[in-house]
Amino acid sequence: MTAQHEKLIIFDTTLRDGEQAPGCSMSLAEKLRVATSLARLGVDVIEAGFPAASPGDYEAVKQIAQTIEGPIICGLARSNEDDIRRAWDALQHAQRARIHVFLATSAIHREYKLNMAKEEILKRVREGVSLARSLCDDVEFSPEDASRTEHEFLAEVVKVAAEAGATTINVPDTVGYTTPSEFYELFAHLRTTILAHHDVVLSVHCHDDLGMAVANSLAAVRGGARQIECTINGIGERAGNCALEEIVMAVKTRPDIYPVFTDINSTRLYPASRLVSKATSMHVPRNKAIVGENAFAHEAGIHQHGMLQNALTYEIMKPQDVGISRSNLVLGKHSGRHAFRQRIEDLGFRISADDIETAFRDFKILADKKKDIYDADIEAIVLRRNVTNSGSWSLKQLSTRSESRELSHAEVTLEHIGGQQCSAKGTGDGPVAAAFSAVERALGVDVVLHSFDIRNVSIGEDAQGDVAVSVEYNHELFHGTGLHTDIIEASVRAFLHAINRLPDTAIVTPLTDQQTHTVA
Ligand code: KIV
Ligand code: ZN
Repeated sequence: MTAQHEKLIIFDTTLRDGEQAPGCSMSLAEKLRVATSLARLGVDVIEAGFPAASPGDYEAVKQIAQTIEGPIICGLARSNEDDIRRAWDALQHAQRARIHVFLATSAIHREYKLNMAKEEILKRVREGVSLARSLCDDVEFSPEDASRTEHEFLAEVVKVAAEAGATTINVPDTVGYTTPSEFYELFAHLRTTILAHHDVVLSVHCHDDLGMAVANSLAAVRGGARQIECTINGIGERAGNCALEEIVMAVKTRPDIYPVFTDINSTRLYPASRLVSKATSMHVPRNKAIVGENAFAHEAGIHQHGMLQNALTYEIMKPQDVGISRSNLVLGKHSGRHAFRQRIEDLGFRISADDIETAFRDFKILADKKKDIYDADIEAIVLRRNVTNSGSWSLKQLSTRSESRELSHAEVTLEHIGGQQCSAKGTGDGPVAAAFSAVERALGVDVVLHSFDIRNVSIGEDAQGDVAVSVEYNHELFHGTGLHTDIIEASVRAFLHAINRLPDTAIVTPLTDQQTHTVA
């Protein structure tokens, strides 16, 4: 890195654009954990939500603003008075706050979504940004669908926003349509001509519909962008957003190409990735760059030979640089609390003294079922404690019976947090389907299984199964994860975790003074 390298602002929108993706919703507690992890990672801005979108979003932005120190906390608002005031209401107690105002500018959005002429758009931008500036010193403006907006009109909008007081102007490729060379030229034009005399940060926000979000964002940096909007694991609408971990490592690995640096502590990337994966119940693809399980695995003999001579033959980054500290140390049932705690810390997780006790208990239970406990098992215990140990209903008892070419049978007993229990039987064309049907009957709920994803956590025949499911209820998706050495039980736990997120009215099991309720 040389003196010419400039700071690249990392604006994380995992909790807004990421969480907005179908099936990625997080509870308030999960959002607070993710925000804490983002602050530890060193992001500059956390976009915590869209306060006018729902009371839940408002509350999340407010609590994150009140509790998270370090990064700027940002809230999204459409360019109208109600949204902007609502955003400010949620943000006002933040150590440092930002209002992010947006309005679509492309011809297709003007005609079909907004029904507004160009003049009306310019007026709304001016009014929205001015109002936001009257409330907060830090205001970002985004012309939504900028990449499909006529360049001349986009330049006009950008100029109006800058004159009205925007401190950051973000140019989104809302539908993932642009290409690296196109974005490079657009950003260079905006930076050197339209914004040449304005003290504003130029920002880029890309979606991954054509698989080019990271490449397009980096091209924008070469064109003059000094803020990138991105999400952990690249989660987001449709194909997702630009992946934070890929941007950070690209800039760090190629300072000869990108004249910027970030303040991200890259060794925190892997724990943050796993936390978001658990909180959203979205497994990270094994071959995902930087944080995928295979990102640093070398299988081919010729590669392994080269690696043994010198790791640089096939590795441009070290796994430790991104927080993957795999060790050959295997824990087992004789390992003590100290060794367990040390492994957790080496893996980059922080855990409270109370949680260590319960996690250690879970570790001992697992060690009774499984001879060798690997890093991935420890990671799963910690993340499960962090993310999924909530909900009104838990699994007390499960039995299943299956024979090939026969319908499977299952019986479950569930326990409510208040102590009441309910049991039911179910059938299905496999033990998982039978157990899910039994859970639905016990709770009187009716959901549609939308997705079911299972993978092994570590290696060996006694490896734990990590199941992620999403269910549809009332046109909304709810997700859950479950972990167990018995994959049917892991599946039921995941299903129950998702059901625990449904609105209270979805569950119709009578919980009177009766302690046990059985569905015949
Ligand atoms: O993709 C997009 O255009 C957005 C804006 C609200 C910034 O998410
Ligand atoms: Zn977006």
